[in-house]
Amino acid sequence: MAGFLITFEGGEGGGKSTQIARLAAHLRSEGHSVTITREPGGSPGAEAVRHIILSGTAEELGPEWEAVLFAAARADHVAELIQPALQRGDIVLCDRFHDSTRVYQFLDPENDQALMERLERVALNGVYPDLTIVLDVPAEIGSDRARKRRGHASADRFEKDDVQVQEERRRAFLKIAANEPERCMVVDGNRPADDVAAEIRALVDDRLEARRFEDIDRSLKLGHEQ
Ligand code: TMP
Repeated sequence: MAGFLITFEGGEGGGKSTQIARLAAHLRSEGHSVTITREPGGSPGAEAVRHIILSGTAEELGPEWEAVLFAAARADHVAELIQPALQRGDIVLCDRFHDSTRVYQFLDPENDQALMERLERVALNGVYPDLTIVLDVPAEIGSDRARKRRGHASADRFEKDDVQVQEERRRAFLKIAANEPERCMVVDGNRPADDVAAEIRALVDDRLEARRFEDIDRSLKLGHEQ
């Protein structure tokens, strides 16, 4: 089976990293080989760019230039880590991906949407997620969780935005999910972690099973053609 790319998206404090760890443990127990990664970051080059962006150094350049940096980091991450893992047949679990750029950098319709589409195409180089899980949590609750998790550390470039902006981002993720129902599943993250993990496990198992049948179908067809 070719690899399978699952991205996790949503606002701050949605519980993405907890759920990724839980899903990875489940998939490994089923015998799958799993690669866990994150954005911005995931490869040495992209991790360096992560630091520049999240420290706020690039903020004054504006959202479009920040998007260029995210795209550069993503191109490196895709080429260096994601594509090789998929070619090995791994299930790749990625904490944030291109939907985060759509939401965080291009939320304002005045930003150059054509630029966004071009950057997205170049950075992804044809590697689109097979499944995207949007962990949905009200912005107020998510910000609160993120604040508690940070402890005494200061908020990063995006965590410091106010709750109203975070709520707009939440709506933007939900809109992407509504526009692409085949790829995106919205999961209510405002529940006990065990319940969220069980729902994610069930829907990923379903998708992997569907993929297995598609693969069998394809090889049967190939067999007939030969
Ligand atoms: P996180 O790793 O703690 O989620 O931090 C990443 C931050 O970067 C988060 O606030 C969302 C933001 N971000 C973007 O603005 N655009 C992007 O394309 C990605 C991947 C993340």
